[in-house]
Amino acid sequence: MSARPWTLVTGGAGYVGSLVVDELLARGTRVRVLDALLHGGVPSLLGAWGRPGFEFVRGDVLYPHIRRAALAGVDSVVHLAAIVGDPACARRPELAQEVNLDATRALLADCEELGVRRLVFASTCSNYGKMPGDLLATEEFELRPVSLYARTKVAAELDVLAKGRNGLETCCLRFATVYGSSPRMRFDLTVNEFTRDLVLGEELVVFGEQFWRPYVHVRDAARAVGAVLDAPRDAVDGEVFNVGSTEENYRKVDIVELLQQRLPDARVRYVHKDEDPRDYRVAFEKIDLTLGYRPRYTVGDGIDEIMALLRSGIVDDPAAGVYRN
Ligand SMILES: NC(=O)c1ccc[n+]([C@@H]2O[C@H](COP(=O)([O-])OP(=O)(O)OC[C@H]3O[C@@H](n4cnc5c(N)ncnc54)[C@H](O)[C@@H]3O)[C@@H](O)[C@H]2O)c1
Repeated sequence: MSARPWTLVTGGAGYVGSLVVDELLARGTRVRVLDALLHGGVPSLLGAWGRPGFEFVRGDVLYPHIRRAALAGVDSVVHLAAIVGDPACARRPELAQEVNLDATRALLADCEELGVRRLVFASTCSNYGKMPGDLLATEEFELRPVSLYARTKVAAELDVLAKGRNGLETCCLRFATVYGSSPRMRFDLTVNEFTRDLVLGEELVVFGEQFWRPYVHVRDAARAVGAVLDAPRDAVDGEVFNVGSTEENYRKVDIVELLQQRLPDARVRYVHKDEDPRDYRVAFEKIDLTLGYRPRYTVGDGIDEIMALLRSGIVDDPAAGVYRN
């Protein structure tokens, strides 16, 4: 058995989490997942099952006794468990507040008390909200969250980054919007959703085609977590990193163009919106300069990957509710 320490991954059965688990096991880290399986008994962790250095705890991060049992012997924590996305948070606002903010605070306190060395918090570039003009948001930019989802993440970040944490090192990763295939597939994310609709021969309806957003492949997101866990304290403690690539900021219309190059018969209808509260372009130099981390995939790669996946027949019914949050 590897002498490497345990890392607890909350939300490790999720879209991003199941690939974080893969990434960390491949690095020789022992991984314990704490997940409430909100999306049902998804097969996302079957690949990790039975591998040495893998443990699974089914439970809710809201409950103190479950958190503390899951933290036994843990050196670092990757906190991904959340009610994810604007629609899911709008549907269950109280739960979103409890899981995304209250549970994060409680987990931080437990980590301090139990002597955990490092906690990495999954945040989002949605925190930037609407950016004025052509500006690229760096980590120092003012945050203007426009949804409950982003407000809970902004509030949690403040706690994660608060000083005087009894030696606990903390770091926030603001992920760009994620795409690509994962053992817990999500088809409610822009690149995956657009590709699915067009491959299935449906008319794609695009709202607010001119608004910008950055994108990152789910395997690159997972790699960023590994990079932050491996980094020396001085490089990451108390820091925020945008996770993505400056070249991978796109308007929705740009993504549609990439799709139309591959699917010339695609039917697309634009519903123009003059105002979208979320319109942001993001700079990703800090994580590159500090950790030497750069994404390997582009949105074009992701589209090719999802097209091939859908044509393979591996996903029976990509419109099924289980693939949406
Ligand atoms: N997917 C994206 O585009 C994106 C972008 C930016 C940030 N993020 C962040 O990355 C993280 C993972 O997102 P995802 O796309 O994998 O979402 P997901 O919904 O697939 O995964 C979240 C996981 O958390 C678990 N969970 C939820 N509430 C829980 C609770 N109370 N106790 C224990 N487990 C609980 C769920 O069962 C699920 O497996 C989230 O924190 C999210 O905010 C995701």
